[in-house]
Amino acid sequence: MSEFLAKHKRSHSCGVLTDANMGEDVVLYGWVSTRRDHGGLIFVDLRDREGVTQIVFNPEEDPKVHELAKHLRSEYSMGIRGTVRQRPEGMANSKLTTGQIEVSVNEFEIFNRAATPPFVIEDSTDAGEDVRLKYRYLDLRRPALQKNMILRHKVMQATRTSLSDQGFLEIETPYLTKSTPEGARDYLVPSRLYHGQFYALPQSPQIFKQLLMVSGFDRYFQIVRCFRDEDLRADRQPEFTQIDMELSFVTVDEVIACMENLMKTLWSEGLGEVLNPPFQRLTYAEAIDRFGLDTPDVRFGLELVNVGEIFKDSQFKVFQSVLGSQGIIKAINVKGQASFSRKDLDELTKFVGVYGAKGMAWIKVGDDGEWQSPIVKFFSDEEKTQLKATMEMEPGDLVIFGADRPKVVNESLGQLRKELARRLSLIDSKDFSFVWVTDFPLFDYDEDEKRLNAVHHPFTAPTVEDLDKLDSAPETVRSQAYDLVLNGHEIGGGSIRIHDTELQQRMFKLLNISDEEAQLKFGFLLDALQYGAPPHGGIAFGLDRIIMLMTGAASIRDVIAFPKTQKAQDTMCQAPSDVDMTQLRDLGLQIRKTE
Ligand code: AMO
Ligand code: AMP
Repeated sequence: MSEFLAKHKRSHSCGVLTDANMGEDVVLYGWVSTRRDHGGLIFVDLRDREGVTQIVFNPEEDPKVHELAKHLRSEYSMGIRGTVRQRPEGMANSKLTTGQIEVSVNEFEIFNRAATPPFVIEDSTDAGEDVRLKYRYLDLRRPALQKNMILRHKVMQATRTSLSDQGFLEIETPYLTKSTPEGARDYLVPSRLYHGQFYALPQSPQIFKQLLMVSGFDRYFQIVRCFRDEDLRADRQPEFTQIDMELSFVTVDEVIACMENLMKTLWSEGLGEVLNPPFQRLTYAEAIDRFGLDTPDVRFGLELVNVGEIFKDSQFKVFQSVLGSQGIIKAINVKGQASFSRKDLDELTKFVGVYGAKGMAWIKVGDDGEWQSPIVKFFSDEEKTQLKATMEMEPGDLVIFGADRPKVVNESLGQLRKELARRLSLIDSKDFSFVWVTDFPLFDYDEDEKRLNAVHHPFTAPTVEDLDKLDSAPETVRSQAYDLVLNGHEIGGGSIRIHDTELQQRMFKLLNISDEEAQLKFGFLLDALQYGAPPHGGIAFGLDRIIMLMTGAASIRDVIAFPKTQKAQDTMCQAPSDVDMTQLRDLGLQIRKTE
């Protein structure tokens, strides 16, 4: 047992001492961030999760303490007792809360030495992510990551307060359960007692939360881990956390209002920022029409304009054939960017190619108003006049075209729009721009499998006015589903659910799920709906994504304490890993090695 620890209780954290504490006797605990020797004086930046305090060892004040301080190295953990003093002239640091003071040490103890860390524990570390993840416990000592985790904590606390205040009950649902259809692969857990049978880890608590509504809990929430075996990206992890909610006796507007209250609280408690709901709303159709994507970033212009009507009799072969085969033509006016070079345009053409675009036609409007373009020679005067008016073309503008199947045009120009905003620095990174996207289609048609898929999930209710088209034109049926989009990222999604067994069964049929399969997979839900299920709806937010956007982190991994790599591994504890033969035997499993 450390003598120092027993004798001296911590008086302050390392991030709080200021002028106001001048002359006080203080006790700090922390880690050596840096050590500098200056003409006999030894300076140490002592760091804990709240910040850094400069401590000083002076040979003239206490030669013995000073001598011992020579042994201090980076990342040693220690406790000190000392006196708060003004920093000497010229040594103040206005960027730090503690930048005006230092603590002159009278007594200290090294609690533990540290091996030389594999990288410098600083925000501006140059270590690659592979090393940082392997030594995550050290990576997490970096102030930026500590800040992220502290914010995450605050947001979780604020979530509980806001939802509890709005009448939600926090109820847990099982992790060892049965498959939930959210569109990803399941993580499976083999059963020891029932060889050959598996639990599935939940992709979301979707069915359980609906059952809780049947049970009469009225409003439920949970901060819950979800598991999805899918391709990873910067904003996706195989296990991630949802703020999951369900409400009884509600309409879309009521769910949205509750969630806007929640966001308001999270932003004020987490960041001290005032949000002003109601947030903007776009229907899915409008989002696709104007922005090309169902995750519109509305912080900048560059909107897509459908110019198909202008070119309905076009002599330009590409436009002709596209319009003749149910394709569309859209254009973006990149204001004032006629100075883009041939090389720039070639790069952008390559960029849209990634999304399947076969080309990227363009027009530059010269300062004299003359058009320079590889395609205007095919345009009639009438087409030119209409295009100029529709696209509000002025000298110095650059207009870019996409012509193809709607999906290709919308996706490629939607992504190009974001790429242009990035290149032209059109985005204010401090801006938080929320948009509800509503009225999603109920189904999308899978060309390869020749079948309908649920856009959200099979429990989402169709829009009442579209019910009569369920059988005749299912692709045109809208749903009561909504997403919340923040700065071009989907942070949450939900819907009003089907609470009627018959409609739910019809839905399964349309999705090509046989009665037998429906009974097997969701029989308990279908049964439950028969017992007076109330009308209900809900939503789930991606907590990790919210924190990523709040902190401006480049990746979701920076806001999760122990994330997986892009290849779904934990390189620190080396998971996944082999297991003992005896474990496999108990589970009735045998591994067939594949290449
Ligand atoms: P959905 O599948 O849209 O809806 O998920 C809700 C939110 O969870 C986040 N999210 C993820 N975050 C990190 N990594 C992932 N792999 C990942 N997948 C999803 C997103 C997303 O908006 N049960 C429904 C909700 C409902 O209908 O109430 C559901 O899970 O931010
Ligand atoms: P081409 O007639 O194929 O030489 O194309 C003439 C111009 O139209 C070039 O600038 C191409 O990049 C562009 N283009 C070709 N296909 C498309 C398309 N599907 N959408 C938009 N522009 C295209």
